[in-house]
Amino acid sequence: MTPFRVLGIETSCDESAAAVVENGDTILSNVIASQAEIHARWGGVIPEVASRKHVENLLPVIHSAFERSGLNWVDIDGIAVTNRPGLVGALLVGVSAAKALAYVHGKPLVGVHHLVGHLYANFLAKNPPLFPFLSLIVSGGHTELLLMRDDNTRERLGHTLDDAAGECFDKCARLMGLPYPGGPNVDRLAMEGDPLAVAFPRAWLGGSYDFSFSGIKTAVARFLKNDGGKTPLPDVAASFQEAVVETLVRKTIKAAKETGMRTVAVGGGVAANRRLAASMRRECEENGLRLVIPPPVLCTDNAAMIAAAGYPRLLKGESDPLSLDTFAVESL
Ligand SMILES: Nc1ncnc2c1ncn2[C@@H]1O[C@H](COP(=O)(O)OP(=O)(O)OP(=O)(O)O)[C@@H](O)[C@H]1O
Ligand SMILES: [Mg+2]
Repeated sequence: MTPFRVLGIETSCDESAAAVVENGDTILSNVIASQAEIHARWGGVIPEVASRKHVENLLPVIHSAFERSGLNWVDIDGIAVTNRPGLVGALLVGVSAAKALAYVHGKPLVGVHHLVGHLYANFLAKNPPLFPFLSLIVSGGHTELLLMRDDNTRERLGHTLDDAAGECFDKCARLMGLPYPGGPNVDRLAMEGDPLAVAFPRAWLGGSYDFSFSGIKTAVARFLKNDGGKTPLPDVAASFQEAVVETLVRKTIKAAKETGMRTVAVGGGVAANRRLAASMRRECEENGLRLVIPPPVLCTDNAAMIAAAGYPRLLKGESDPLSLDTFAVESL
């Protein structure tokens, strides 16, 4: 098979990223310049600062992606860029760069939905899924349970009715006095804690596949206020994490069983959570399901997943016009 190589570009939030992916499943380079340290000062992403940092970082990151892949422009068959959803100013930096490069080098360009990128990170894992499969996407802004029939057919089984799983991790981490980004810090602290120490509520929503994480945030705030620091923080972190993980795992396994799916694929930043991975692995094994979780660097924002998501359309010879727009919000 002639290799088909895609340059991926991602700037939807606070990571400036570029990657070269071959045949939709082999990473030749994956470069990420994170701004997390800069935004940590404010406890969250400041959109204007993110856009300005993307302007500074993006071309060196693309250059580095080429250098690490050992390839040149002649070896690239197309460009895939995140154009929705995300911070519009941030998206514009990536999309403008991608358009200019596509025009100058005469390459086809496709816009990619960021969440479809998180989904396609699964095809970069060691044991990629085969269609049809069940996909759980748990990220900073989304929580989606999808039935994936093929590249173009996906059915939404459930989603969050309020906060996203990652947003809940970040907000509760803040309540616990942990720095931004909260998720990885809760994950670390929870390793030393008892997940059964505090019985935080789980929102089962009458057995539906939808999720709700705003109640647990209120419960954590109330608990911390009333407890006055008596309960060790690692126990609070582990118990909070367990409540989120248990809800995600139980609903996913239920959906897999009820839809007859044999493979579960998890993606998005929260998929990097060690307790979620361990719990999902155990439950999948017990229920005879195959589990795919990409390595942590492919769970959080990166451009390899964007290249992988753009690959099927580029391979078919499709492309978007250079008038490609950016969108702050767009559901899957
Ligand atoms: N180990 C971890 N445990 C729990 N949460 C984590 C972990 N690592 C990252 N996260 C969370 O994942 C989120 C970041 O994921 P991601 O980069 O996919 O989100 P985003 O791009 O900001 O949002 P979206 O993809 O929905 O647009 C943050 O909320 C972060 O706290
Ligand atoms: Mg993301």
